[in-house]
Amino acid sequence: MSQFTIVDRSGHTTSVTVKGSGSSVMELIRDAGVDELLALCGGCCSCATCHVYVDPAFADRLPPMSADEDDLLDSSSHRTAQSRLSCQIVFDDSLDGMALSLAPED
Ligand code: FES
Repeated sequence: MSQFTIVDRSGHTTSVTVKGSGSSVMELIRDAGVDELLALCGGCCSCATCHVYVDPAFADRLPPMSADEDDLLDSSSHRTAQSRLSCQIVFDDSLDGMALSLAPED
């Protein structure tokens, strides 16, 4: 069993416990009841409403960014070096303890 934390836009932290693997971080955040994460396209990498900031300590454990994800993040005025689309990160045990925060809404 692994876990990660997500801080919403009001500063509230939710600890998400993950059993098993294969789900995207977006799905796990949504299933934990964080409804500020809109994820409008359902994980198809076409909306950028699942934008999160990832703790830099975990940057080298994340899957590489695709060109589509990179392009979509470029459309956000809130992109930083910590930006990722949470639907493009499949959670596995190597991400245990990861800290995330929701990016501001565009
Ligand atoms: S849910 Fe739409 S890009 Fe991630």
